[in-house]
Amino acid sequence: MNKLYEGKAKIVYASEDEQKLIVFFKDSATAFDATKKAQVEGKGAINNTISSILFELLEKHNIKTHFIKKLSDREMLVWKAKRFELEVVVRNITAGSICKRLGLAEGIELKKPLVEFFYKNDELHDPLICKSHALMLSLATEEQIEEMERIALQVNEVLKDFFHSCGLILVDFKLEFGILPDGSIAVIDEISPDTCRLWDAKTKEKLDKDRFRFDLGDLMEGYRKILEKIQR
Ligand code: TMP
Repeated sequence: MNKLYEGKAKIVYASEDEQKLIVFFKDSATAFDATKKAQVEGKGAINNTISSILFELLEKHNIKTHFIKKLSDREMLVWKAKRFELEVVVRNITAGSICKRLGLAEGIELKKPLVEFFYKNDELHDPLICKSHALMLSLATEEQIEEMERIALQVNEVLKDFFHSCGLILVDFKLEFGILPDGSIAVIDEISPDTCRLWDAKTKEKLDKDRFRFDLGDLMEGYRKILEKIQR
């Protein structure tokens, strides 16, 4: 297959249709700009499965995504999209970088969801930026930024309710957006325990990639618990 791009967790290949791409989920886990790395057997397959379930859920709620179908254990067929160099984070509960940045305790429930924009730039370590910076850097137009924010909050409502019904708390998550061949803005990349913080609603156990980031326990055990809960 013709490899177009290789990232930390996925490889993107061309497909027979030039409007479609094949995403391959790797078994690698990285954190802190890949200064921490490990091979985790089975991670690619489970993230592909979880991402496929969540993209299908969003599509059912009429939220546009790049997802077309799951092709195999580790492969997903998606629409080719022109990616925005932005990461859009939605937070319901404080955790991670917002605690460090603003000196907050972990676990504070926010009165309303918070949307943050990060500039996707490895050299700069993906800094937090405001909308004016995004405009100044021509990362998107004002309308596109508003649209991404609107979709991100809509995704939050769908995912929060869904995870709640599965006994999971959606603490926060990261989305990426792109422009599809038909010109519409869609959610792209992946939605998995690599990109969402998910806690067990009863025990508050952390089941997502924070297990790997902070050595909290076996990564795959957490991911398997998430998959079991969302498949029930
Ligand atoms: P943060 O608290 O480290 O800013 O992370 C917020 C959310 O974004 C969390 O669910 C993890 C996710 N995330 C990614 O998907 N990729 C990243 O590179 C980082 C730093 C966070």
